[in-house]
Amino acid sequence: MQRVVCPGSFDPVTNGHLDIVSRAAGLYDEVIVAVLINVTKHSLFSVDERVDMLTEVTKGYGNVRIERFHGLLVDFCAANGITAVVKGLRAVSDFEYEMQMAQMNYRLAKIETLFMTTNPLYSFLSSSLVKEIAKYGGDVSGLVPEIVLDRLQARLAEE
Ligand code: PNS
Repeated sequence: MQRVVCPGSFDPVTNGHLDIVSRAAGLYDEVIVAVLINVTKHSLFSVDERVDMLTEVTKGYGNVRIERFHGLLVDFCAANGITAVVKGLRAVSDFEYEMQMAQMNYRLAKIETLFMTTNPLYSFLSSSLVKEIAKYGGDVSGLVPEIVLDRLQARLAEE
């Protein structure tokens, strides 16, 4: 059983995340999407809301499970029988930080990190940019799933 994790904040999930998760689901027996519970970082959506959106948009995949975690990713991996992390690499700008985390996770617990090159359609895409553009009335359709688009518009209308 090859079980991998796609970890992140997913505030909110984008089509770029979904691209990586769906490709990982085609390669491994089970993919766990793990949402970081980060109490210090200001987020637009609560962890429950992020988990709900992820559950909805991945419901078509029989081998994708959504979980939440706090603390170290390597501890979450150990507790869940996960031996590898799958990450998307958008551009060289991602590389330095991702490399550092990958090497540290290997040093800590021999957890491997496998990088997938992002679909060029989404290489410029990030949750933070989506939030910023949506906040100022820009069009983010096509960059996030429909249900995320609806929730974004509803949340920003509340502010
Ligand atoms: O979507 P993000 O915010 O870029 O995801 C970053 C994430 C969650 C993958 C990373 O911050 C993480 O693994 N955090 C858990 C804490 C941890 O293990 N830190 C040491 C990393 S070497």
